[in-house]
Amino acid sequence: MRIATLTSGGDCPGLNAVIRGIVRTAADFGSTVVGYEDGWVGLMEDRRIQLYDDENIDRILLRGGTILGTGRLHPDEFKSGIDRIKANLEDAGIDALIPIGGEGTLKGAKWLADNDIPVVGVPKTIDNDVNGTDYTFGFDTAVCVATDAIDRLHTTAESHNRVMIVEVMGRHVGWIALHSGMAGGAHYIVVPEEPFDIAEICKAMERRFQMGEKYGIVVVAEGALPKPGTMDFNEGGVDQFGHQTFNGIGQVIGDEIKRRTGHDVRTTVLGHIQRGGTPTAYDRVLATRYGVHAARACHEGKFGICVALHGEHIDLIPLEEAVGTLKRVPIGRIRTAQQLFG
Ligand code: F6P
Repeated sequence: MRIATLTSGGDCPGLNAVIRGIVRTAADFGSTVVGYEDGWVGLMEDRRIQLYDDENIDRILLRGGTILGTGRLHPDEFKSGIDRIKANLEDAGIDALIPIGGEGTLKGAKWLADNDIPVVGVPKTIDNDVNGTDYTFGFDTAVCVATDAIDRLHTTAESHNRVMIVEVMGRHVGWIALHSGMAGGAHYIVVPEEPFDIAEICKAMERRFQMGEKYGIVVVAEGALPKPGTMDFNEGGVDQFGHQTFNGIGQVIGDEIKRRTGHDVRTTVLGHIQRGGTPTAYDRVLATRYGVHAARACHEGKFGICVALHGEHIDLIPLEEAVGTLKRVPIGRIRTAQQLFG
C-alpha cells in the first residue's frame, strides 16, 4: 500500500511523532509513505517527499513543529481544487491519505472522503477543541509551557505587589486557560465560553489585597470577551482564511484593572511560545498512538474516519463527529475552577 500524509493548519508539538508512528507502522505492513509539503497546498501543487523507515524518522519523535511544513488554504480554494487533488493522488499511486490537523483540516478531510478519497484523519491542536476526542496532542505541551510561565510570574508579582495578566492561546475555547490557570494557582481565569465582567475580576483582586495578599494572577484566553455592555472592546476581524483575529484582550483587561483599582498591573502574552519546542512525554505517547492507529486503519480499509482518544482507548470515529461543533469547556469545569478564585 502507498500512504500519503500531510500536516495542515497551525503547527503543534507532536506532529512529528504522528508522522513517525505512521511511517514505522506502514513499514511493518510492507507499505511506503510519502509526505506532502505545507499541508493542502503541497497536495494541490504535488510537492511530496518520500518518508523512509530509518534512523532519521526515529529521531523526529521529540522534535517540535513538523518536518513536512504546514500551511493554510481557504476552504473555497480547497474545494475548487478537488479535481487536481484527485489527479495528483492518482498519479502518485496513493491508496490512502492521512491528513493531520485541527477542525478546519478535518472538515477538509471529510470533504475529500465525501468525494470518494480514502481518508483517515488525525486530530491535532494545542487548543484541545476538536470534538469527539478526549484530548488532542499538543495541548499538554501548551499547558505545561503556560503553567511554567505562571509559576514564574508568582514570585515577580509578589515582589512588586502587582497584578499579573497572562494571556494564553485559545481562539474559541478556554481549555489552555482553564488547565494552566488551575495548575498554576491563578486567582482568576477568563475563558471564551463565559463572557467576563471586569467588575468581578477587579473585586476578586481587591479582595486579595484587603486580605493581606500582595499580588494577583489572572489567566485570560485570547478569545475571551466581556459581557455585553460592561466594557468597551473591539472584537477584531477575520483573516484571509476566515479565522478570527484578536485585539489583545489581556492588555485591555490589564489596563482596565489598573484604571479601576489603581494597582500596578503587567500583562504577559505567551503567544506562539506555547506551540513551539519539544512535546511533553504525554503528547509524544498520544501522538505516536494516533499515528500507529491511523496507519493500521488504512491497512484495515477503514476510511472516512478519524482516530480519537476515549479514556484509555484509541477509537475510530466518523469524521462528521469530529467536525461541525467545537469541544468547549463545560460550565461545570468553569464552576470548579471558580471555587479557587480570589
Ligand atoms: O488553533 C491553534 C492556535 O494556536 C490558536 O490558539 C491561535 O489563535 C492560532 O492557532 C494562531 O495561529 P497563527 O498565528 O499561526 O495563525
